[in-house]
Amino acid sequence: MKILVTGGAGFIGGNFIHYMMKYHEDYEFLCVDFLTYAGNMETLEPVINNSKFKFIKADIADRKSIYEIFREEKPDIVVNFAAESHVDRSIEEPEIFLKTNVMGTQVLLDACKKFGIQRFHQVSTDEVYGDLPLDRSDLYFTEETPLHTSSPYSASKASADLLVQAYYRTFKLPVTISRCSNNYGPYHFPEKLIPLMIANALKGKSLPVYGRGENIRDWLYVEDHCRAIDVIIHEGTNGEVYNIGGHNERTNLEVVKTIIRELDASEDLITFVADRAGHDLRYAIDPTKIHNELGWLPTTTFDDGIKKTIQWYLENKQWLENIISGEDQQYYEKMYSNK
Ligand code: NAD
Ligand code: TYD
Repeated sequence: MKILVTGGAGFIGGNFIHYMMKYHEDYEFLCVDFLTYAGNMETLEPVINNSKFKFIKADIADRKSIYEIFREEKPDIVVNFAAESHVDRSIEEPEIFLKTNVMGTQVLLDACKKFGIQRFHQVSTDEVYGDLPLDRSDLYFTEETPLHTSSPYSASKASADLLVQAYYRTFKLPVTISRCSNNYGPYHFPEKLIPLMIANALKGKSLPVYGRGENIRDWLYVEDHCRAIDVIIHEGTNGEVYNIGGHNERTNLEVVKTIIRELDASEDLITFVADRAGHDLRYAIDPTKIHNELGWLPTTTFDDGIKKTIQWYLENKQWLENIISGEDQQYYEKMYSNK
């Protein structure tokens, strides 16, 4: 079995490769990543020398390169993590989100159609459902919730989902889609809430909280997400969407205060800043379907997961420093320029 993982030098894709290589030692893994600012070869350091692992630098929106890769490598399964993933950047510069997230997905779907595939899995997000009000804790996103996006990021992810479903219906391509809530854990790029707050608190820098910090996110430890995708690509039904989440809702302010407590930092670091435009209020996943149909349940609570995550950042300060200083790009040149 050969699995092509796009975006594997990023946060979740990298964790997925580590997870899968641990539990499927006989599989081969091919990572295709364009190494944007968010891609980091050091995230793949633990598997770089494994004979079952191969890395190719390519843009998923580059049809010629992607077809060449499919022709040469003949993957059995494709798991598409590659994306522009940061809402704030999508507000500043929407175009690259359409190119990578929509056109890139379409190129991959065309490649699967042309060369054949056992399964194309699209890693999507709960953000395609829009948001829920703060005063209705009884409401959750199910797979039937209408798509209703807020940001250019979520609009691009929803567009990709619709394309994936169109290729299932029109071309009978074997596809699945997962829509997960906010992830956290090791190798998370420090532009997102949790790693940014950890990085800043470690340096005694201010902790920028948007608005009043009342927005709610439903946090899932990244390894639980990886295990859910593993189950879906092996046992999921073609054409189906699976929501993934673990009922770990927290306000942003609660998350920031937890990090401050764990690091023994000062709450004086909290700085309330201007709110994000179009800021989604609350995300909350109903994971009943994946639990009932595929037996998946999360295993890590937020209290345990945040401790593990902070511990990882304390033990991997160099990873953080390199990614902040951009040294990772030089690492790629050093390691791969002759390969
Ligand atoms: P990330 O930004 O950390 O990583 C994205 C990776 O994709 C990077 O390695 C980057 O180099 C690569 N990439 C970007 N453009 C590319 C292109 N054109 N061609 C090839 N590679 C390219 O993102 P992440 O947080 O790991 O998210 C991965 C996926 O999971 C995304 O599709 C995202 O929408 C989805 N998702 C993320 C979360 C979350 O909380 N982070 C939650 C649900 C779903
Ligand atoms: P983020 O990690 O960007 O994920 P998403 O917007 O995809 O949910 O942000 C999580 C929440 O934290 C979101 O409500 C915005 C908020 N936030 C801050 O308050 N301050 C920050 O510096 C960042 C990056 C996010």
